[in-house]
Amino acid sequence: MQKSSDLKIYFAPLQESTDYIYRSAHARLFGGVDKYFAPYIVRQNDGTIKKSHLRDIQTSNNLGYPLIPQILAGNTADFVFLTKVLQDNGYGEINWNLGCPYPMVTNKGFGAGLLPHPDTIKAILEESLPQIHAKVSVKLRSGLTSHDDIIKVAGVLKDFPLSEIILHPRFAKQLYKESPDLEIYRNTVEILGSDLIYNGDIETIEDYNRLKGLFGNTTTWMIGRGILKNPFFPSVLKNLPVQDKAQKAKILRDFHDEMILGYSKLLSGNSHLLMRMEKFWSYFSFAFPDQHKTFKRIKKAANIAKYEIAVNENFQRFRYDEEDERSQNP
Ligand SMILES: Cc1cc2nc3c(=O)[nH]c(=O)nc-3n(C[C@H](O)[C@H](O)[C@H](O)COP(=O)(O)O)c2cc1C
Repeated sequence: MQKSSDLKIYFAPLQESTDYIYRSAHARLFGGVDKYFAPYIVRQNDGTIKKSHLRDIQTSNNLGYPLIPQILAGNTADFVFLTKVLQDNGYGEINWNLGCPYPMVTNKGFGAGLLPHPDTIKAILEESLPQIHAKVSVKLRSGLTSHDDIIKVAGVLKDFPLSEIILHPRFAKQLYKESPDLEIYRNTVEILGSDLIYNGDIETIEDYNRLKGLFGNTTTWMIGRGILKNPFFPSVLKNLPVQDKAQKAKILRDFHDEMILGYSKLLSGNSHLLMRMEKFWSYFSFAFPDQHKTFKRIKKAANIAKYEIAVNENFQRFRYDEEDERSQNP
C-alpha cells in the first residue's frame, strides 16, 4: 500500500493561466505541489525570446518554490540555445515540450509535430545533450494524428538519460476531446517503466482513486485544470490539514487579491486587467458553489468598479452558501 507521503503532485503548465504571478501565489497560499512547470518558452523567427517569456522564468519572479521551465524546440540549435538561456538563469533541469497540439505549432515541427518523427527526436537529443548540463525531462502526448506514434517515440526516449517523462495519453488532433487512453498509458509504462508520470483529466478525488487503482506503481501525477478549478486540490489529495470553510474563503480571497494586484502592476489599462481576471475566473469560479452564476457575474462586469462588486458578491455568496450548508448539517 502506497503511503500518502510517497505521492507527488506536479502542477502542469498552461499558457496564459499558470504564469509566475499565479504560481507564486498558489505556492504560498495552498501548497501541496512538488514541482511547478512553467509554460514553454520559444525562439521567435528573429532568434530572440519574447520579453514576457523571459519575465516568466526569471528566478527573482519565482522565489520559494520548485520550478521547472519548459522549452518548445524542433531542432538542435533551438534546443541548445533555449536550454543555455535557462541554465544561465540558474536552472538545473528543463522540460522539453513534445505535446503542444495546436496546428500553428505542430505544422512547424514543434511540440506534438515531432511525434511522427522519432528519428528527429533521437537526433536532437543525441546532438543536444552533450552540449548542455541541465537535466532534461520530456512532456508528451501519445501522437499527432493517432496513438500510433508513442510506441516508437518511447522506444527512442528509453535510451536517453532523461530525468522524467510525463505522458498525456491523448493524441494532438483530439485536443481535449474524448478521454485520455488508459490502455496507451499502460502500454507506455511497459516500455518506459513505472516512473512514467501520468497527466490528463484528474479533477476529483474519484478520478485520482480510479487511476491509482489502475496504475498502483505510479507515484507522480501531473494536474493542470483540476488545480486551476480547485486550488486546494493538491492538499486534499495529500491529506494535508484542511481548513474550515471560513478559513478557506479567506485564503481564496487572498489568492484573488494577490492576483489582481500582481496583474495591475504588470498590465497596462483596465481592459487588459479585466480580460486577464476573466480568464482567471473561468477556472476559479469552479471553487464556488454555483460556478455558472459566479462566472457570469464576472463576465458581465464592464469596468473595474462593477468587477469589484461582482467579486464581493461572489465571496459573500460563497460564505452564505457555506453557512447555509452548516446550519443544515449541524
Ligand atoms: C490553454 C492551455 C494551455 C496549455 N499550455 C501548455 C504549455 O505551455 N506547455 C505544456 O506542456 N502543456 C500545456 N498545456 C497542456 C497542459 O499542461 C496539460 O497537459 C493538459 O491540460 C492536460 O492536463 P489536465 O487535464 O490536468 O489539465 C496547455 C493546456 C491548455 C488547456
